[in-house]
Amino acid sequence: MLENAIDAQSRRIVLRVKESGKTLVQVIDDGLGMSETDARMCFERHATSKIQKAEDLFNIRTMGFRGEALASIAAVAQVELKTKRAEDALGTHIIIEGSQLKSQQAVATLNGTTLSVKNLFFNVPARRNFLKSNPVEMRHIVDEFYRVALAHPDIEMQLFHNDLEIAHLPVGKLSQRIVSIFGKHYRKQLAPCQEETPLLRVKGYIGKPENAKKTRGEQFFFVNTRFVKHAYLHHALVNAYEQLIPADSHPFYVLFWKLILHALTSISTLPKQRLNLTMSEPFTPFCRRPYAKP
Ligand SMILES: Nc1ncnc2c1ncn2[C@@H]1O[C@H](COP(=O)(O)OP(=O)(O)O)[C@@H](O)[C@H]1O
Ligand SMILES: [Mg+2]
Repeated sequence: MLENAIDAQSRRIVLRVKESGKTLVQVIDDGLGMSETDARMCFERHATSKIQKAEDLFNIRTMGFRGEALASIAAVAQVELKTKRAEDALGTHIIIEGSQLKSQQAVATLNGTTLSVKNLFFNVPARRNFLKSNPVEMRHIVDEFYRVALAHPDIEMQLFHNDLEIAHLPVGKLSQRIVSIFGKHYRKQLAPCQEETPLLRVKGYIGKPENAKKTRGEQFFFVNTRFVKHAYLHHALVNAYEQLIPADSHPFYVLFWKLILHALTSISTLPKQRLNLTMSEPFTPFCRRPYAKP
């Protein structure tokens, strides 16, 4: 839902959650909105608007492209959608429960989209029992919110849990977003990184060695703005700290990898090790540079 709001070019996104998402997950955005037809169609399978011609398949830069997220959600929850495009006088209000359209009417509403997902798995009690405890589920939501927020510091983002404000992140540079999320004391520990090779571009911040922590959880790799966990890249980065941090501690990092798309075919035909070799190259210069000087 957050990714959809980003795809819709929102400048401000609010996430409201009740009971760790079990009774409500609501995303309010000020993005492009949907036409009446699109509002109805977005709950159909393969409703994606992203693939219009064959070349688009090779050029997908937006967040997801399976066109099934909303259909899947609508099948297992009570969903309410309010949406309006700037060019329309009235918006559309839709209620759908377990894939059944309950109501659709014109409504006066702000530009953008509000999607409310209520009572997740209301019709699949067996699945509901698989949900973890409230603190665990909320942790997942908060983690995901911060990952999206790190990848999009140009979007104002706000998170509420049971009407309590958990985070309010103003628009700013990446360094400001990091500080808004993790606290003011992070300002001094950030070392900027930037490196470019013919295959990829790396940009972001790494933490100073003395601030490395015993616990994991503040390591963020993004590939084309999508959060990824990548053991190999993580080890390559930690190795670059060499003797600078104790073996059992983890440096902070927020790094964005941009794969150069036209290089992808050549990457995929390379043997696996070559790929690793190519990918490990950027680490050496960009990780050592900040600490090389006394
Ligand atoms: N917040 C939103 N603002 C505008 N359009 C949206 C929003 N959320 C969903 N849509 C529309 O609904 C479609 C289906 O969404 P989804 O099921 O997530 O598939 P996908 O994002 O992969 O296309 C999107 O392609 C988009 O056209
Ligand atoms: Mg989507």
